[in-house]
Amino acid sequence: MQKLKEEIGELLAPLVSLEPEEIISLLEVPPDTKFGDLAFPCFALAKKRKQAPPLIAQELTEELSREKGTYWEKVSPKGPYLNFFVAPAAFGCEVLQQVYERSSKYGHTNLGMGRNVPVDYSSPNIAKPFGIGHIRSTVIGHSLYLIYRALGYNSIGVNHLGDWGTQFGKLIVAYKRWGTESELENDPVNYLYRLYVDFHKKVEDEPELDDEARSWFLKLEQGDEEAVAYWDRFKKLSLENYEQVYNLLGIEFEYYHGESHYNEMLEGVIELVREKGIARESEGALIVDLEPYGLPPVMLRKKDGATLYITRDLAAAIYRYKTFDFARSLYVVGAEQTLHFQQLFKVLELLGFKWARDCVHVPFGLIRFKDGKMSTRAGKIVLLEEVLQRSINMARDIIDEKNPDLEDKEGAARAVGLGAVRFGDLSNDRVKNIEFDWDKALDFSGETAAYIQYAHARICSILRKAGSDKRVWDEKAASLLSEDEEVVLFKTLALLPEKIIAAAETYKPSILARYLIDVARDFNRFYHSCPVLGSEGELQRGRLLLIDATRQVIANGLELLGIEAPEEM
Ligand code: ARG
Repeated sequence: MQKLKEEIGELLAPLVSLEPEEIISLLEVPPDTKFGDLAFPCFALAKKRKQAPPLIAQELTEELSREKGTYWEKVSPKGPYLNFFVAPAAFGCEVLQQVYERSSKYGHTNLGMGRNVPVDYSSPNIAKPFGIGHIRSTVIGHSLYLIYRALGYNSIGVNHLGDWGTQFGKLIVAYKRWGTESELENDPVNYLYRLYVDFHKKVEDEPELDDEARSWFLKLEQGDEEAVAYWDRFKKLSLENYEQVYNLLGIEFEYYHGESHYNEMLEGVIELVREKGIARESEGALIVDLEPYGLPPVMLRKKDGATLYITRDLAAAIYRYKTFDFARSLYVVGAEQTLHFQQLFKVLELLGFKWARDCVHVPFGLIRFKDGKMSTRAGKIVLLEEVLQRSINMARDIIDEKNPDLEDKEGAARAVGLGAVRFGDLSNDRVKNIEFDWDKALDFSGETAAYIQYAHARICSILRKAGSDKRVWDEKAASLLSEDEEVVLFKTLALLPEKIIAAAETYKPSILARYLIDVARDFNRFYHSCPVLGSEGELQRGRLLLIDATRQVIANGLELLGIEAPEEM
């Protein structure tokens, strides 16, 4: 695509008196390739030429009617657009060569030039089971982390654990009063959660428990040895539990900087807010008014001196900027916290931090699991680990049936099972609520990870049969591909780099997920009508190059969604 764009840039520059780079940045991929493969929108010229855009498109078409480029062969007007059609042989050859040469790096660029992008994601609240409530942040965040890395940014995964707050006072009281060591050892996180729930039941009859909890939290804040030891232990046990989930998902964080990490910076933040004169005292509490900006006021310190979630987020944002000098700072957190982030970013702006505009909240809707024992019932936390395990089991059953002799059944079941959950989330526009349907998520012919993984495995199998000696670059063979299905397929393969960029710019891995469905579908159509092993000589070599490129594009794309592409399944 890039070479075609450059060619069009050079071609149009003298005709429209714009710089080639400007033209390139204006080029769009038409929604339907019937109308062309790349479109130049003529709106930008209307003023200068004092003409309506459709007329400009007409005139440019006439001017170019006798021309032909290396990578394009025809232009035609469509409304305000000047549409270019690629020259199949040259373009196909160029795409396949790109994929062949760049292989696992095809689609990657150095747009980010190594600049830092902290991605705050997953971020569960400790001493609570890792429920499906955090699944979306985990998979969307991880995918964005991978996508930004592929674009040459230095992604930094930050797990902003909820590890501070009055609930730890309650937990300490509950554990000291009626907790037992053996139960804690046995099933730490569930037990801690039970203690927490019990506390809330008991406090109704014994309101003094609340005062006790408050005083324990105060001790914790003052660094009291006993309090800190309890908190430390609860945190350690929780993290061990979460790490099992992260291991299963192949996720590693650069930093586990929970809310507590910022405790020592809170004084400084409060001071800064005072210095800048943006806060006021109200009945002993410290408040920032955001009314002029249409937002409710923010409390940074309660009258008893306690700080809040947002105070710690302010410190965290400043810390991240100081530490990473970031190009962007992402917060992958549910849409229910939209107001929180609006307030946070506004306060940063009022503090005079120009980089506040580089802070981005990436919100998403809710996930609900349809039917079965994983359905979301009130009061019961649906464990993420159970969901993942269930999906793996279901995948194993399907594979058992479809391919009983498969060698690495366990590996394939894992890839397909985990892929189903991830893709079930990532293939939806993130702002929408999703209802996760087990049958649909594991349907091998639906819009699923399995469908894409299956195309990949199928290609691997064809390539194995063909033998490795046939997989060498052959320019002549690559330019022989001219059947409709072949052309459609390599045109689709050409789009990977732009899809990755679009997914990053909009923070929507769904763009990449939907694209991979297109790739798998175009491959299946091709394979249905064009024999590969059944063809001969140069043509066979050309088709092998085409499917090998398809395999690579699928593998590269799935990797950025955090999904494995097994060679057999
Ligand atoms: N622990 C929070 C929750 O579970 C999410 C934290 C998100 N990150 C942040 N910097 N506020 O709701």
